[in-house]
Formats: sequence, structure tokens, C-alpha cells
Amino acid sequence: MYEHLASFSGGPPNDYHLGLYSTWADSSSPWGMVMTGNVQVARGHQTLGRDMLVPVQLTDDAVAPYARLARAIHGLDSGISSTDANPDGTGNGTLAIMQLSHAGRQSPNIIGGRGFFESPLSASSIRVGTSKRRRQSGHASYLLNDLIANFSYWLLFQKPREMSIADIDELVQQFINGAILATRSGFDGVQIHAAHGYLLSQFLSSKTNKRHDAYSASPETVLNLLQRLVTGIRAVTPKNFILGIKINSADYMDSDDAGTQGHSQKEVEAEQEKRALDHVRALASWGTLDFIEISGGDYENPDFMESSLPPTKSRRQAFFSSFSRLAVQTIASLPTPQQQRPLILLTGGLRTPAALSSALTAGHADLLGIGRGAILCPHLPALLASGAAAAAEPDLPLGRDPDLRTGASPLENAVSALTANVKLIGAGFDMAWYVVNIRRMALAGMRGSRTNGTSESDDEHGAGRGQIPDYELSRMGALLDMWCWTAPGDDWAWKFWATGLGCAVLLLAFAMVSYAR
Ligand SMILES: Cc1cc2nc3c(=O)[nH]c(=O)nc-3n(C[C@H](O)[C@H](O)[C@H](O)COP(=O)(O)O)c2cc1C
Repeated sequence: MYEHLASFSGGPPNDYHLGLYSTWADSSSPWGMVMTGNVQVARGHQTLGRDMLVPVQLTDDAVAPYARLARAIHGLDSGISSTDANPDGTGNGTLAIMQLSHAGRQSPNIIGGRGFFESPLSASSIRVGTSKRRRQSGHASYLLNDLIANFSYWLLFQKPREMSIADIDELVQQFINGAILATRSGFDGVQIHAAHGYLLSQFLSSKTNKRHDAYSASPETVLNLLQRLVTGIRAVTPKNFILGIKINSADYMDSDDAGTQGHSQKEVEAEQEKRALDHVRALASWGTLDFIEISGGDYENPDFMESSLPPTKSRRQAFFSSFSRLAVQTIASLPTPQQQRPLILLTGGLRTPAALSSALTAGHADLLGIGRGAILCPHLPALLASGAAAAAEPDLPLGRDPDLRTGASPLENAVSALTANVKLIGAGFDMAWYVVNIRRMALAGMRGSRTNGTSESDDEHGAGRGQIPDYELSRMGALLDMWCWTAPGDDWAWKFWATGLGCAVLLLAFAMVSYAR
């Protein structure tokens, strides 16, 4: 998960990152694999700013902070001064994976690392927010909702520039540099982020890829870019280096296109699933990938940030489990030798020990990914191993979400109603809640007050001393807290926000005066 802990314009991991990741490393029963939040391969294409970045020059000094991060994940660097958390140097056995990403058209103005009039890069020149979105029946009218949706997308994102072949060549080199960084800094592998509507998934989806060249969305060429990345990364990394990929289970088709051809929504979804499965089959047949993570959604429909317990969904159900089961079956039917077949990693909505267990026994996946649950319950593996988790169900913190707090504030309700058609905003509130709790974990880790899920320092929910996570935190409060924070050494971020606020007040005053006259 993106940590929002680097300096304002992006940069290397700092003490906060070390504190955070050493919290996950500090367990008698460690996580199997810990994946970093997205590390951006291009400074000018961040997600929300404060992203970790692949340095342009891979000098020893530039690599050093990442080496400390890998050691923190391995339980070898406590993040407090330079003392080793595990002096015998054997580590905890957790695999450290660096996620490499490029936000493409979903990189917002300014905070994404570019000036206001500088277009981001994408497969084609299609702005975020212009595709058909699933409508949500909010309290406000559709018209008002749509107006707010369009304005928000317009304010946040620019129309991207279609990438030239030279841009694509540079992108391939940027990802390869990311893999070199991971190898040199002691990571066990990388994951290529080709999901959630970021640049690589913009190439995979016909919704965002209207090209007619060797990187078009047609079945013959759609995986060409990924294949170049995988081949390039394999060429510069050791034989046992782990290489994974994260892809979406749907969103591969332009539903507007399908609509004009008279297909029903169901038929469109079936076609999308078929296309995604074709991709899984092709990726697996290369014999060079170690795992494929299944997720879904993008900034127009952020399915991956669904609330974990919507009233209509069973809490035992993972978001993308039916697709991932098909993926497991598809891979099993391939003639590729067993050891060359990628494992399927399912992430999203796994919230109870029973759900985790049944996902494995029902063959939904080979590996299970936990996102938000790892913030709510950082020591889940230890709890599962001790059997305490099953006993604590259903009150395990893994299943508690900010949306379960009793009663949102009237302001929060009003914002939710007005922005029902911009699911990104709702997802942004949720994300902020988790980001602020990530920071609390990081601080606790830095102070050395890390907790162990099986120790007497647990609070009633097993989440540890110092109220982490803070369930009293409102989502609105979290949003303010998320942005009004400065990382070590970037005090000037205050000046940026103060200027922004000043401009907004002036604009508002100007609009009011104009209206009054
Ligand atoms: C704060 C936060 C940051 C995230 N950042 C990333 C990211 O950097 N890369 C990524 O692939 N997914 C990211 N995600 C999505 C998660 O990896 C995961 O797919 C999603 O939360 C669903 O899983 P869960 O239900 O277990 O939380 C993020 C989610 C949250 C809550």
C-alpha cells in the first residue's frame, strides 16, 4: 500500500518507512511476502505525491535508503538509529518485493509531479473521467452529481498525451532501472503494477488504448509492452529474482463500444472476463513470471477500494475470487511445466480467517493478499498461527473498517451525497483514513513502541498499544491530517498549501462579489 510518507515531491524511503515496515517485520510469525507501496519509475508521474521514486542515477548513495528498506522488511533493520533488529543477520524469512509503477493519465495535476499545464503520458489521449461510469443513486440529483463528477475530474486530471515509440522505449528503461534498484538494494523481487488504471493497464484496456501500432489493444499486440518489460527485467536480474505482475480482472473493454453494438451489461462483463483470462493465459505461457496478482478497478470505478463490508456483500467473499479461481484453473490446464507456472495471488476484501481459509481450500488462489487488514491487524500471521484469530472472529480487527464507525458527521454525509458519482472521492476518504493510520504505525515503529500481536501489550482488538488504528478518527479529519503533514526536510510543503488555500479563498471571494453585483 502506498504509504504517503516520502517528501512532498517524492523521494527515497525515510525513517518513517523504516518504522512502518519494521512493524510488519516484527513478529514471531512473519508475513510470507511484504510488498512496498508503488515505487514510481518516473518522478513526473506520481499518484498523490509523497511517492517513493526510482532514482534517476543509481549511485551507491541513491540506492542506500532502499537497501535499508529491504533490511527493514527482512527484520534486519529496526528503523531506529542503525541498530540491527536481528543481530544474527538471518532475517525473518519474509520476501521483500518492490512494486514498480507509473501512474500515466491518473497522475494528478501538481501533486503528481508536473506543472499545471504539463500533460501526463498515456497509451492514448483520453482524459480520466470521460468514460462511462457506473452510476450510484445518491441523495443528490444525477445532474448535480454528474456536474460535480466532471468538475472534480477536470480539476484533478489533465488530458494525457499519447506516448510516442521513443516515450515507450524510455518507459521500458525506467522499469528496468527499477528492477536494477531492487536487485542492488537487496529486495527479493519486483511486482509490475499493471492494474488499477495506471499506465500499464491503460495500455491493456481498450477503454484507454485506441492505438493502431505495435502497442494497440488488439489481442495480437496488447501484451507487447508487458512482454518487453518482463524480458528486459529478466535480462538484468539474477535467476532467483522474483517477478510478479498485478492485473485487473475486468475493465478491459470500452463498455461504450459494446453498448453501441447492442450488447447487454452482462454480455459486456462476460466479454471483459474472457479478455482478462486470455491475458492471464498468455502471461502464464511465457514461463517467466512467478506470480500474477488479481485485482480490479481504476480511478473511474475504484473497485479495489470497495468497503470491505458493504451491507449487500458477504464478509466471507473476496472481491475478485470467482475470476481468480478461473485464473487458477486456466493456468493448471496449460502445457507449461509446473515450476514455470505463475502462482495466482488474490487481493481484496479478505477480511476473516474463515474467508482466508476457504479461499485456499476452494482453490480461489495460491497466495492471499491483505491490504487494509494489514493496517488494522499488523500481526495477523502471528494471530492466525496461534489460532487466536479464529477464536476472535467475528470481532477480529481485520474486519473493522472506518465505515463501521457509528454515525458519520453531517458534513461527511453531505459530501458523500454530492459526490456519489465520483467514487474516487469516497475512495479518497477511505484511503486517507488508512494513510493516517499507516503514519501512526510508522511513528510507533520509529519510537520503538512496536507491538507484537501475541504479547500482553495488545489492546482488546489485538492491534497493539497506542490505539493503532485510531477508530475515533473521522474520514474527514483523516483527509485533513493526511495533507497537513510534512515529512522530514520538506517544510516548504506548508507554503505550497498555504498559497493554495489563499488562492482558493481569493477565488471564492471574487466569485461571490461577481455574483452579488
Ligand atoms: C492506503 C492504501 C494504499 C494503497 N496503495 C496501493 C499501491 O500502492 N499499489 C497497489 O497495487 N495497491 C494499492 N492499494 C490497494 C491494495 O493493494 C488492495 O488491492 C486493496 O486495498 C484491496 O485489498 P484489501 O481489501 O485487502 O484492502 C492501496 C490500498 C490502500 C488502502
